Amino acid sequence: MIYLDNAATTFPKPEAVYAAVMDCMRNYAANPGRGSYDMTIKASRKVTDTREKIAKLFNIPNLFNIVFTCSATEGLNIGIKGILKKGDHVITTVMEHNSVLRPISYLKGKGVKCSIVKADKDGFVNTKDIEKEIRSNTKMIVVNHISNVTGSIQDIEAIGEVANKKGIIYMVDASQSAGVLDIDVNKEHIDILAFPGHKGLLGPQGTGALYIREDLKVSEFKSGGTGSNSYSMEQPEFLPDKFESGTLNTPGIAGLCEGINFIEKTGINNIRKHEMELTEQLLKEFNSREYITIYGRKDMRNRGAVVSFNISGKDSSDVSAMLNSRGIEVRNGYHCAPLVHDIIGTQNKGTVRISPGYFNTPEDIEALVRAVEEIHSINI
Ligand code: ALA
Repeated sequence: MIYLDNAATTFPKPEAVYAAVMDCMRNYAANPGRGSYDMTIKASRKVTDTREKIAKLFNIPNLFNIVFTCSATEGLNIGIKGILKKGDHVITTVMEHNSVLRPISYLKGKGVKCSIVKADKDGFVNTKDIEKEIRSNTKMIVVNHISNVTGSIQDIEAIGEVANKKGIIYMVDASQSAGVLDIDVNKEHIDILAFPGHKGLLGPQGTGALYIREDLKVSEFKSGGTGSNSYSMEQPEFLPDKFESGTLNTPGIAGLCEGINFIEKTGINNIRKHEMELTEQLLKEFNSREYITIYGRKDMRNRGAVVSFNISGKDSSDVSAMLNSRGIEVRNGYHCAPLVHDIIGTQNKGTVRISPGYFNTPEDIEALVRAVEEIHSINI
């Protein structure tokens, strides 16, 4: 089996990730922060260690401003629904995933106004187009860092500078970039950073985190037990407890800790270099076949390891199924990012998406290209 759907979730994980999940489950999966006995102290220590690693990775000054979530989607919902109120205006882009578009759509029904900024045909947003949409009531700008459809990388620093200059809250969806691109919340003026644990950070599914800048007012998403101020019926106002009601996914977090450890040891630049080499190999092969349409840039400028394509005359879901029957696992369809398809012209067909990860090899790409050639030659 050749797995090439790392934009959805990375697979496999480093061996240490599996071992850490099992070790936690078997030996210390007590409830972190809920007692003073050895197992809960060990569980709390693991949670704090992981927060520290995340803080270091994204240059976050205070580790308590990192909230564990179950996914980037949850983090994006907390940020969007916890900040925007009736009468506020939000700017976002056509490149967003439904985890941004749907919460905003829900809020539109509650009186929040929204501008959705266009991208060029390759999926790049012009910062000036965002700037033009700013109004007196613009409260927030939400931008996707790397597109999960075209792989286009937005200039999050330039957009951050605009937001910072105008005093607008700036939220970045790092679903495809956390763990593969350097992100610095200070340099890029990011007020809220949402990311999954199970993609580039190489942790288990069911993990994710959200950075919320110090002193930013965000309403809680859920309320309940936090293990702190337990005699009070009121939700604590301090972070991370305000957003961490309920038992944390300690085994998942222990796995995530090892995922980040692997990234630290391997080097984020080496991970990116390997993924970019595979992407370049793939683009070179696809560019030389006239029956393949690549969506987004056809070269390596400002892109992540995501390549969307179609084979002339073939349906994207058929292609994906045929690849699967040849032992190659890829995603097809709209990738939960509906507006991107108006930009790249795939409204009625979606795309087949290849997303290589650190554990893929050049031989995997060669096998994929051979399979694509074979599928093209079949008359159905
Ligand atoms: N958002 C994930 C993807 O792009 C699930 O596949």
